[in-house]
Amino acid sequence: MAEQKQVSFTLDGQTVKTVAGTLVIEAAKQQGIEVPSFCYYPGLSLQAACRMCLVEVEKMPKLQTACTLVATDGMVVKTNTEQVHSARKNMLEFLLSNHPLDCPVCDKGGECELQDMTFRYGLDHTRFIEEKLHYPEEKWSPLVYYDAPRCILCFRCVRVCDEGMDVKALGVGARGVNSVIIPNDGGALDCEECGMCIDICPVGALTSGTYRYQTRPWEMQYVAEPCTHCSNGCKTTLSVRNNEILRANNRDHSGINGEFLCAKGRFGFDFTSNGERIRQPLIRKNGKLEPASWEDALEEVARRLKQVHAANGPQAIGVIGSNHTTNEENYLLGRFARVTLGTNNLDHHRTADYTGLAAVLGAKAAESQATMADVYNANAILVVGNDVTQQNPLVAWQIRSAVRHHGARVYAINGRPSKIHRQAQVAVEVAKGGEREAIRWLASEQGNFDAKTTGALVRLKAALEAESDVVVVFGAEIQGAAIRDLVSVGARFGGATRYMALGDYANSRGAADMGLLPDRLPGHASLANKSERERFARLWGGNIEAAPGLTARGMMEAAASGKLKALYVVGANPVKTFGVAQPDKLAGLELLVVHDMFLTETAQRADVVLPAASSYEKDGTMTNTAGEVQRTSRSIDPQGPRSDYDLIRILSHQLGMLGLGTPIKLRTPEAAFDEIRQNVAGYDLPVASLLAGGAEVATATMKGTETSQDLAAGTIFSSNDYLFTSGTLGRYCSKLTSTNEAKEAPWSSSTNTQSWWRR
Ligand code: SF4
Ligand code: SF4
Ligand code: SF4
Ligand code: FES
Repeated sequence: MAEQKQVSFTLDGQTVKTVAGTLVIEAAKQQGIEVPSFCYYPGLSLQAACRMCLVEVEKMPKLQTACTLVATDGMVVKTNTEQVHSARKNMLEFLLSNHPLDCPVCDKGGECELQDMTFRYGLDHTRFIEEKLHYPEEKWSPLVYYDAPRCILCFRCVRVCDEGMDVKALGVGARGVNSVIIPNDGGALDCEECGMCIDICPVGALTSGTYRYQTRPWEMQYVAEPCTHCSNGCKTTLSVRNNEILRANNRDHSGINGEFLCAKGRFGFDFTSNGERIRQPLIRKNGKLEPASWEDALEEVARRLKQVHAANGPQAIGVIGSNHTTNEENYLLGRFARVTLGTNNLDHHRTADYTGLAAVLGAKAAESQATMADVYNANAILVVGNDVTQQNPLVAWQIRSAVRHHGARVYAINGRPSKIHRQAQVAVEVAKGGEREAIRWLASEQGNFDAKTTGALVRLKAALEAESDVVVVFGAEIQGAAIRDLVSVGARFGGATRYMALGDYANSRGAADMGLLPDRLPGHASLANKSERERFARLWGGNIEAAPGLTARGMMEAAASGKLKALYVVGANPVKTFGVAQPDKLAGLELLVVHDMFLTETAQRADVVLPAASSYEKDGTMTNTAGEVQRTSRSIDPQGPRSDYDLIRILSHQLGMLGLGTPIKLRTPEAAFDEIRQNVAGYDLPVASLLAGGAEVATATMKGTETSQDLAAGTIFSSNDYLFTSGTLGRYCSKLTSTNEAKEAPWSSSTNTQSWWRR
């Protein structure tokens, strides 16, 4: 990287050096000098609206706004003079002239930038005696409320919605002292409901429908967690009081997502206290699920699993895991299925071809796998399939930020419209499912496209081959052999091309990495690989069969035909995911056991339901779609439900006592993570960093000479969740589902796509 030009200037009597082009406010921050500000916000356009950041600059007649002033050689800046202090006091007096001063009841009290500044610089009296303008509070949506008198017109909300979100839902109404912030579409919001405007508001003018007026900031504990919804792994800080999650935000910007959270991460936490939560085990008696004790339920599961095993052999048992459970739970479940039960009928709902990508990248996986930061830093981003705005909101935020902050170029190939195309230099719209063929065209210039699409592909190819350091993000549309084509296309771009497969859920990647697959061990090692099979068999104290088991879809079919006698489901809803409409489709099963938080379509048909803790209620690690591993911890007590980790471990002990398998000795998720670190390719990560809240990249580096193979249709597919849905979990997030926008999927035939895009 070329060395950046430095400038030298004097700041409060000290000579300081900084990179040319740095704003004085930022240069001061680098020196630990705070220049107060309201309208300035790093990453957003400059506004110079509040005049709080005034500083003295030698040879300039008037005070200058440090948020717009670029530091230059020889400049002499003073941030701490009497004149500066007097200006700050005066600005605060103006800002407070129409402010209601209702700090004791204001939602922001205790974490309000205006309150802090007033304590630091303000007056304890005012010269304004005029009657204050009053406007009633407005409810713009179930999630966003606006209180105009508290607004200091810094326009951060307007800018974050426009520049950061590319939604442009907010504007300024009226003029002068009557100015207020308004939704651009009239009295109500029609937007992505991300709540970024609430988060960025320095005062209590914008408040959150999930949190407002429930508590005070100092009454809560704060627990950092990876978000439990999509696969992007945003860090969210949960605010907890009396064992209840009251708020989620990321105001300390400490995660891979900076300050970003989408509607799901910010408002989709109330499923934890949903009244429909199962808090006691249930056993089916006379056709009805009845409450039971933990002892009876676990004893029933163990006894009946053992019965099926003894009568029909291990191949009559299937295990379907989850893409929301932790790495440690997935690892344990794999061991439980393969060694305790002796079956390779083990799978989960696969939403991206992580194995295929690892196979194609092989030994180059470490340098060829894109992180969330790589998306932001890329010179160019190629998006293939997927609607990143709806399905991978952090990826979309990173792309928009890359375009805005350093002029990255965006290219897209898609079988459906997507808002991200607005950012694109070339967006090739193909027929639904045509992404694969388009990639083949880029690889070989052969394919069956009309003249318009071919023209667009020609332009795309020329543009991409002139780029360097490109990040390629792709959805489930590209899987199997198509990944080979994609990587061969990427090899023609300049510099280093990096790839990210986009899955659906919080631990989609972790489920695959931990080997919840019918033909793959942890680290994606093939079951056909004898030395890997024997290594895990030794580690787990048993035998592992070489023949691959049934896929999740295959298990559902085998359950319908009676070939499968017992199905053990952990945190998944295969009845819905794989579209088993009629109850009798599972009639062939003698035993269906389900771990879940709610009575899902699958749990309703179960013989035993074990209530499970959510990821916000247990310890462990999760791996986002980019391979970034983060720690999740118990922010609240689940009050009844138990972690899937405990349930699997206890059951292995029960079965051990019945003579089936050996008990799992890894007593805690920490012990399991230790074993994972030592035995799963790519997971030997620094624990200290994870404990400190960091994200560490795991790279599944495949040994040998494997390559990606096409799997049967319907093995890997996306649920196509959008901003307001989250698999089965989303429907239990009542605030999320209460918005108008939640009622219409962007891709449904009745939705006006243009209106969704405007959001
Ligand atoms: S999209 Fe809606 S919630 Fe998000 S910043 Fe814009 S107005 Fe606020
Ligand atoms: S609502 Fe908040 S963020 Fe928006 S202009 Fe007013 S004070 Fe600033
Ligand atoms: S982008 Fe995904 S991980 Fe981030 S807050 Fe939204 S749902 Fe959660
Ligand atoms: S922060 Fe500089 S004018 Fe508002």
